[in-house]
Order: sequence, then structure tokens, then C-alpha cells
Amino acid sequence: MPAFSALWQALDEHYRNTVSIHMRDQFAADPQRFDRMHETLHGLLFDYSKNRVDETALTLLCRLAEAAGLPQQMAAMRCGEKINTSENRAVLHTALRLPENAEAVYVDGENIVPKVHHELKRALAFARSILDGSHTGVSGKRITDFVHIGIGGSDLGPKVCTQALKNYQQQVRVHFVGNSDDAEMTNKLVGLNPETTVFSIASKSFGTPETLLNAQAAREWYRSAGLPEAGIGRHFCAISSNTEAARRFGIEAERVFAMFDWVGGRYSVWSAIGLPVMVALGEAHFRALLQGAHAMDEHFFHTGFRHNIPVLMALLHVWYNNFYQADGHTVVPYSHNLRRFPSWLNQLDMESCGKSRTIDGSEAELKTGGIMFGEEGVNCQHAYFQLLHQGTRLIPCDFIVPMTTPHNIGRQHRFTVANAFAQAEALMKGKTYEEALAELAHLPEAKRLALAPHKVFPGNRPSNSLLIDSLNPFNLGMLLAAYEHRTFAEGVIWGINPFDQWGVEYGKVLAKAIEPELDNGTPEHDSSTNGLITFYRQCQQAV
Ligand code: F6P
Repeated sequence: MPAFSALWQALDEHYRNTVSIHMRDQFAADPQRFDRMHETLHGLLFDYSKNRVDETALTLLCRLAEAAGLPQQMAAMRCGEKINTSENRAVLHTALRLPENAEAVYVDGENIVPKVHHELKRALAFARSILDGSHTGVSGKRITDFVHIGIGGSDLGPKVCTQALKNYQQQVRVHFVGNSDDAEMTNKLVGLNPETTVFSIASKSFGTPETLLNAQAAREWYRSAGLPEAGIGRHFCAISSNTEAARRFGIEAERVFAMFDWVGGRYSVWSAIGLPVMVALGEAHFRALLQGAHAMDEHFFHTGFRHNIPVLMALLHVWYNNFYQADGHTVVPYSHNLRRFPSWLNQLDMESCGKSRTIDGSEAELKTGGIMFGEEGVNCQHAYFQLLHQGTRLIPCDFIVPMTTPHNIGRQHRFTVANAFAQAEALMKGKTYEEALAELAHLPEAKRLALAPHKVFPGNRPSNSLLIDSLNPFNLGMLLAAYEHRTFAEGVIWGINPFDQWGVEYGKVLAKAIEPELDNGTPEHDSSTNGLITFYRQCQQAV
């Protein structure tokens, strides 16, 4: 048990005392429940009233966060202490969205704020030169397409932002290639002209084989069009903290944009990794994205836990994960343009909190992490929502819903919003056996009795609603930053390091050994792996 075990026990007791209370009854007994259990920040409304909590649970949970040392960890993060202990790194994605005149933040004795803005301006200037046509391809033609090559954190953040803010798109088309599977690169290059395409190779380490393979394929594609080697510098740029490796790849220093050692990949969209977003949206909108994230940082760092949106999100996640033993957490954006948001969150949360060792290396006693998944609404209502409503598992849900849209096709947006609200209501209220029976009054008695049990919804299934007045850069910045801080806060409560990712290394090492064995040699693995390798060879011989 963690040091704050007394609080943990108090929460456990409170859980057992309240687990059978239905939210329906809580709403009926307290007409002010929504008033007490929602927060607003700029264009965001966070409604957490449809959760299985009362004031006592919230008070205990806030005390838990304090006892876990969250206030101290927040302060340590903010001022650049090396809280990513296993990698001996500071964690300063929040510094990337500080205004230029912000107070100094020191890493190893150096104020990093001027450095952040220097690098931001370099990336913005390059994006601007592509957009205004002053940076042309090797044959003098205007750039029409920008292909961003990267994976994981070097891909998901910029992809989500570019897609989400499609309505702000400028004239250059932006594409993303992440997978090493050759289909993605092949598909993306169809219809592109090497003379008018710029590639960015994004890799913090500049050692990720998927990204380097794709980068080589892109370079081959450029060369095979007969374009001069000297033009590589006009068509390739790199974003990396390993600037030396980027240069060795053949990208000139002027086109290498620095990522900082103290920014984790999955927290990096605010850095030069955001270059494709800058190209897609232009400077003003990218700056608005940063400002939105900064507004959430200010809220996170300066608001008491009881009204702190990311902290409340984290505490509710811990409440269900550790007391209710929830089986997962789903996040549903009711917006087609936000459809990749669940994938971004999936990496953010699961790569951060999927740890079974606490920060000091001992075995974690608490259940850490959570299974995060999601799909755009309303599509998911016609897919996995059945399980949320009537399955035997508890899966809390976050509904993310923009209130307005620029499209205005008929009543489509209103219909979509109504569905989001209805799902949250249905999950909370449920439908009793008596209500189901009453609905079937028109049927013969035997049929009514047979059908009614299938129409019962247990309800009492929790959800948060995160409503934004519109899907604009500022609100998107707030939203992403809220989930970043939620992840950090829950990591602190579980006692783990949410900023390293050693678990992804092992498979990479084994892949290195297996790849040459796919061609020849005697594989010496377990019988299953050997069998898979043999089958691969057979298939290769057959084509
Ligand atoms: O394999 C996981 C990971 O290390 C992520 O943490 C990271 O976002 C991704 O790979 C890409 O790494 P890089 O930016 O160094 O290529």
C-alpha cells in the first residue's frame, strides 16, 4: 500500500458504502448537482456530474492527490526539476507554450524560454516560406504538398491537430506517413509531384527504424524522378533532438529543427514537431493552439484541486480504475475532424501510465494505467456502445462535443449533439424493468414478459462531457493540455513515472534480430516464432 494508505482505505470504505447508490437518485435528490459539478474555462465546459461520486468522495479524492504529492510534483515539473528520473530528464512541454516574456525556466542552469522561442520562430518562418511561395522546389515551382514522416509521438499529435483543424487549412496539403508497412507511403505518394513536395523527417532520437526506412523511401522517390542531389536540401527537413544524425542523413543544418531533450515524444506537438500543423494552418492558428494549451496550464497550476479540470479528470479515472475496477475508459469525440483524438490519447495515456514499477523501481501495488480507446461519435453508437449500455463491464466515457460547426448542412450538427447528450443521459439513467414493461404495454402479456428483461438498461454508468464552443485552435490546445495533465496527475497518484517508456524497447531489439532471419539462417527461437518465420519464407518463395 502507498504511503497514503489511510486515505486509500477511507476511499475504499466510502466506495463500499456508496456503490449501490444510483446516479438517478442522486440527480433526483439534488437539483443543483450540475451546478456543483461542472467547471468552465474559456470556451470549455467540463460536466462531471454524471459520475458515481458525492461530495465526500470528491473531498477524499482531492486529499488523495495531495497526499500523493501532486502539488509538489506539479511545482517540480513547472520549474524544470528532473522528474523523469529513469531518463534523468526534466519534463517541460509546458515551457513550449509559455509566452515569450514569461518568467525564466532553468534546465541545467540555462533559461530555456528564449531557446524555445528561437526554435519556434525558425520553424514558423520555414512554414511561412512554404506557404507564401518564397521557398520553392528545386525547379523553382511552388510547394503544393508537405509530407510529414514520423511515428508515435512524432506523428499522432500533429496528425490530430491538422485533421481537427481542417477548417483552418491553408493552401498547402499536409500528409502523414507513420507506418513502416509500405502501403502507407505508397498510397500517400500517389498523385504527388516530387518537384513540389517537401518532406519532414520527424524523430526525436533520429534512430527509429520505421521513420528512417520511410525517409529513405522518400529520398529514393525524389531521386528516381531524376531531380538533382543538390535539391535534397529544398525538399527535406528534419525535426530531432539528435541534430547530428539528421545532418548525417543529408539534411543541412539550416533545415534541422531542434526538439528538446526535456520534451517527451507524446508531449511534443507544441515543439517543432508541430511543423506540419504550422504549414497546414499558418502562424496565427498555431500560436492560438499554444495559447489554448497555456491557458490550461495556468488553470492546472493555479486552481485548487476541487475545481481543477485535469485533476478532477485524473481523480475520476483513479476512482473507477482502482475502486470500481473498471475495465477501460472510452473517449468519444462527436466530431469527424477529431476522429484521431482517441489514438493520440491512447498513446499519451497508455505509454505514460502502462507501468508496473513505481518510480523507485519497486513493484507497483496499485493497478496502474487504464485501457483507453475510442471512436468518433455517432459511429461508435452503432458499434461498441451496446457493451457500454448493457454489458457486464464498467467503462466510463468522455464525450467531447463541439457546440457549433462551420458547415451547417441541414440539421446534421444539431442531431449529432443531441445524440451525444442522449448517450450520456441514457448511460446515467438507464431503464428499469418496470419502465421496460410499460413501454411494451401494446404486446400480449407473454411477449411483454419475455421481452422486458432485454430492454432493461442498468444505467449508473459514468461519463464526463467536455463541451467546447467550437473546434478552434485555442480550444483544441486546451483539450490536449487537459489530457496531458490528467495523465501526469494520475501517474503521480499511482506512484509511477509517466514520462519514460522502457516497455517499447524489447520488441524493437528482437525485431532487429528477426529481420535478417526472414531471409536466411536457422532461426533459433521458440517453436511458434520459428514456425512464423518459416511460413513467411514459404510465402516469399511462392510469389
Ligand atoms: O516506440 C515508442 C516511441 O519511443 C515513442 O515514445 C515515440 O513517440 C516514438 O517511439 C517515436 O520516437 P522518435 O521520435 O524518437 O522517432
